[in-house]
Amino acid sequence: RPINCEPLKELVRTVPDFPKPGILFYDITTLLKDKTGFAEMIDALAAHYLDRDVDLVLGIEARGFIFGPALAYRLNAGFVPVRKPRKLPAPTARVTYDLEYGTDTLEIHLDAIEPGQNVVLVDDLLATGGTMEATVKLVQQLGGHIAGLGFAVELDFLKGRDKFPDYDVFSLLHYSE
Ligand code: PRP
Ligand code: MG
Repeated sequence: RPINCEPLKELVRTVPDFPKPGILFYDITTLLKDKTGFAEMIDALAAHYLDRDVDLVLGIEARGFIFGPALAYRLNAGFVPVRKPRKLPAPTARVTYDLEYGTDTLEIHLDAIEPGQNVVLVDDLLATGGTMEATVKLVQQLGGHIAGLGFAVELDFLKGRDKFPDYDVFSLLHYSE
């Protein structure tokens, strides 16, 4: 049964002109510190994946680490970190992707996923989708099966989900502007 997360928006703080003029920032730290709010978010995410036989939840550094481990625990799955460069000690796969200015790189341990394992990819925010698109490539390289892409917040107007026509994209809170 899907959980209605719409009331949780009252706990999200909006900060105008952050990180730069003209940008309205949806700050979920005010939701995370609310014990009921945080639990409802994790429960709502878990409800979406409970019947999918998930082996691993993958979280993207840094803010994906807020949700990934809690969701993994709830789904009785393992947790895999995708990290910024040169943080992981064992051999890695890496992917470099474009930002508005410059590029960014993400890495995953080569042995983090066994071919065919069922993996849910989690992050706090779906904006342009560039970060998740890069992470999808890493999981594909390792032969993981993507059971879904999960987010706390989705900025619908940036149309990030259009980058993932082949996958189930699920977000708890949607913003249209
Ligand atoms: C933020 C956010 C997502 C990403 C979303 O991460 O946490 O990972 O941007 O944007 P996109 O859909 O346009 O790729 P960021 O790299 O800013 O920093 P973080 O280390 O705080 O997660
Ligand atoms: Mg991030």
